[in-house]
Amino acid sequence: MKQLTTTEQTLKERIKELTCLYDISSIIVNADADQLQETLKAISLSLKKGFQFPKKTEISIITSMASFETEALNEMLQISSRIHVFNAPDGKVIASLKDDKSSFLKEEQQLLDSVALKIGNLLERIEIQQNETSLKRQMERADRLSILGEITAGIAHELNTPLANILGFAELLKDNFKTDKKVSEDLDKVIENAIFSREVVKKLMFFACEMPQEMKRVNLVPRIKNALALLDASFKKANVKHLVKIEEEELMLKADTIQLTQIIFNLIINAIYFSPKNGLVTIEASQTKDLITLKIIDEGPGLSNEALEKVFQPFFTTKPTGDGSGLGLSVVHGIVASHKGSIVVENNLKKGATFTVKLPKT
Ligand SMILES: Nc1ncnc2c1ncn2[C@@H]1O[C@H](COP(=O)(O)OP(=O)(O)O)[C@@H](O)[C@H]1O
Ligand SMILES: [Mg+2]
Repeated sequence: MKQLTTTEQTLKERIKELTCLYDISSIIVNADADQLQETLKAISLSLKKGFQFPKKTEISIITSMASFETEALNEMLQISSRIHVFNAPDGKVIASLKDDKSSFLKEEQQLLDSVALKIGNLLERIEIQQNETSLKRQMERADRLSILGEITAGIAHELNTPLANILGFAELLKDNFKTDKKVSEDLDKVIENAIFSREVVKKLMFFACEMPQEMKRVNLVPRIKNALALLDASFKKANVKHLVKIEEEELMLKADTIQLTQIIFNLIINAIYFSPKNGLVTIEASQTKDLITLKIIDEGPGLSNEALEKVFQPFFTTKPTGDGSGLGLSVVHGIVASHKGSIVVENNLKKGATFTVKLPKT
């Protein structure tokens, strides 16, 4: 690195560097977290101007979140400075000179160091912001689910009585019109639809945890085997295989047996539905000191970002109309919550989705 010759020259360079630093500070203060690429571009262009030979200097900023390069760098003549985010190295700022006859100044390395520090601060700010946003989203989601729970519970309650009346009166009428075939058939339709609606209401009440619970010690293993036996025909019809991975014969927990079965059923039915032909559904169960874990893994298409966010909301479904009510997983979610457990869904690395339920043993 070279020293500058005259005082005037030195002063001029110093002013240029300070102006550059000032510009970059303003860019960073006004930076929008969503437009990091643009910000890096603006920083690079400003930084370029701070060098002794701006036209011959190219800048490259590399970070794990985004990168920018003013032009291809000259490999031979480079100075660089590491960027640190929360004390860990995360990329660097590089300046290169196209002209082999000139060289970098000591001050230019300092300038680069200051800029690297500023970029590091910016990246830290973005990371903090992103964490906050995701936390806020999670909270909003939990809020929405619990509000939905209350609303659905209300609706289910309100509908229960009139539905029972419709059913009761329809059956009474059917008795009275036994001889009239047409009326009798019409009434069958009324009854059929009322029963269907009652089922929906029942599911809603499950979702809202309005069903009475009977908690006792149960073994998860036979519950799984039982469900698989009952679903055997569904597996065969869909041409889907299953694999059970359970290391122990006894996985005891305190739960409502019917609701436990409902969790298993709903998850496996979804897995079958979304499995391709010859796909494999894997059911895993294991335990730790305090928890029982149940995993249902399929080889289907997995879930879109929207689905990942909304699967547990009542009425969310991607099935064609008539195929699904979008209530299965909200029921499961409600049951798991009432057992003080947790349920998450994630896409597998290769294909398909995994639903993981964790339930406390006591
Ligand atoms: N194993 C799975 N693979 C992919 N998507 C799934 C899976 N399970 C559930 N989903 C998504 O979640 C939605 C809601 O599921 P669910 O609450 O059971 O309602 P429904 O089965 O009536 O659609 C489904 O329509 C689908 O989009
Ligand atoms: Mg379902």
